[in-house]
Amino acid sequence: MQADIKRGQLIVFEGIDGVGKSTQIQKLQAYLEQEGKEVVTSFEPTNGEHGAMIRQTASTGRLSLEDEYRLFTLDRQEHVAQLIEPSLAAGKYVLLDRYYFSTLAYQGARGGDIETMRQEQESFAIKPDLVLLLDLTVEESLQRIGVRANSNGEAGADEFETEEMLTKVRTIFMQFLSNPDEPVLFARIKASQDVESIAEDIELIVYQILYPDSL
Ligand code: TYD
Repeated sequence: MQADIKRGQLIVFEGIDGVGKSTQIQKLQAYLEQEGKEVVTSFEPTNGEHGAMIRQTASTGRLSLEDEYRLFTLDRQEHVAQLIEPSLAAGKYVLLDRYYFSTLAYQGARGGDIETMRQEQESFAIKPDLVLLLDLTVEESLQRIGVRANSNGEAGADEFETEEMLTKVRTIFMQFLSNPDEPVLFARIKASQDVESIAEDIELIVYQILYPDSL
């Protein structure tokens, strides 16, 4: 199994849009590098061929659920093979802005079967050591993304970012967190706090992973 050859640590940031994942990834990268770790950061959808197609359709018109799922999956398969797996095998810390839980939550919110999708994703995607779920109410999320410019330069939310959609997405994320049988380690981070407090919460959790015997 792929997971058997893994030597580094895979830490995934998830959450609805506007929770501040990219800022916190930069901060965690700095913290880990201070601790002497080699860190690679990345994001999904990637800037590869399939990721670019996804971004384009977010502003030009929505794909069918099946086509959308297929593109996110192809994009992720390349990402795992080209970047995630080799980096972990080289002993690096890999920090990801979104991973297959975004597929389960967003495509699940559109009606995709979460169990089936999870089995398909976990057949090729290396399971993370930790998922940091940055949590914000949908109201706060929409306020934040409402003032953010889209890739076409206009302010406003795209097709992934309606209130109804984000409410469903957040509910699915929270289900992973509250499921006692969930095999992947999830931690909820209160994303309504200021940037420094969020970073401190994250560092504390990651510290326990780095030095499990110290607390
Ligand atoms: P992203 O490029 O992270 O957008 P932003 O920078 O605006 O947060 O992701 C675009 C959208 O794609 C985002 O709303 C979440 C969605 N998404 C899915 O629907 N499924 C997936 O598997 C992933 C990775 C993202």
